[in-house]
Amino acid sequence: MQVPFLNLAAQYQALKDELLPAVEHVLAGGHYILGANVAAFEQEFASHVGVRFAVGVNSGSDALILALRALDIGPGDEVVTTPFTYIAPAEAIYAVGAKIVFADIHSLTFNIHPDQVARRVTARTKAIIPVHLFGLVADLGPILRLAAGRGIDVIEDGAQSLGAKVGGVKTGSFGRLGCFSFYPTKNLGAAGDGGMVVTNDESLARKLRILRAHGIERRYCHDLHGQNSRLDELQAAILRVKLKRLDAWNTRRRDIARRYSQNLSGLPLQLPAPIDDSHVFHVYAIASERRDDLQKFLADHGIPTIIYYPQPLHLQKVYADMGWRPGDFPVAEEISRKILPLPIYPEMTDEQIDYVTSTICQFHKEGRC
Ligand SMILES: Cc1ncc(COP(=O)(O)O)c(C=O)c1O
Repeated sequence: MQVPFLNLAAQYQALKDELLPAVEHVLAGGHYILGANVAAFEQEFASHVGVRFAVGVNSGSDALILALRALDIGPGDEVVTTPFTYIAPAEAIYAVGAKIVFADIHSLTFNIHPDQVARRVTARTKAIIPVHLFGLVADLGPILRLAAGRGIDVIEDGAQSLGAKVGGVKTGSFGRLGCFSFYPTKNLGAAGDGGMVVTNDESLARKLRILRAHGIERRYCHDLHGQNSRLDELQAAILRVKLKRLDAWNTRRRDIARRYSQNLSGLPLQLPAPIDDSHVFHVYAIASERRDDLQKFLADHGIPTIIYYPQPLHLQKVYADMGWRPGDFPVAEEISRKILPLPIYPEMTDEQIDYVTSTICQFHKEGRC
């Protein structure tokens, strides 16, 4: 059996009859930038997250940059984030000229550790960017309390966590601003790049709308140093079709995760937890002392995998002149050696899940499966 790591083509086939008319409607209408679809999708997205405002932008990376810019964060400021994630939050901090400050992660959740954040906060800290990694809500309570006590803003990176919630409250709505990505592989993926910034703050929403469109509120009047970062109509039309499915897809992802964890229990592996509404399983990642051998064994049995993330950010070449050394963030370093994401997508069948887990059992020479 072959189990692809992702299968976006299967999702397209299932939605084709709705996607093609939606795309056709945009093309035939001739209005491609900031039209009715973007406006409607922003409203539908805001209501899905449970916030007042959503501003469609060009990517999740731009969402983070624009969030920092909307808060006037720049040179001389510090922003705390995690070293174990996709590079976008660190890139965004660097892009606005602020200082990247990493805080180590929790070994079980892989999310930024509030105690480590507290150690890294200084008088210059202007924002904290927790990432809800792999779809699991970060430990926000202590971070929000710490931030509130010091006048620091929290910008949630919800690129991987759309729909994850705690006490009925969804990621993106806890902080001053929430950022999302519609990169095609995300739980809600476009057919290209796209992103969103959400907030309950009306003046910030207005500023974000100006910043994303060359600093313009009235045509050809440039009031702020803006940029071009607009979500386009085609992507918005596609995302509107898919948003209606998101809750069902996230439920299916949790079901897959539950089946994985049941089948793998008892093996010498660290399994993700919890499996409840606080996790939307953008990634189902196990941790193994024998990760590289296990990955090869799976590949040899028709199950290719991709490691997120094989090297923590503080050890990336691009940051070689920042002074970070191996050992600075030991938990992030250890997890990057052990982490192994398994295939997960709503269209995955139970047979495929069982094949993956029985292959992992076989690797561990477990006769039971
Ligand atoms: C945690 C996280 N933040 C930000 C981004 C950036 O989003 P984009 O690719 O849309 O720029 C990504 C991934 O792509 C991500 O995984």
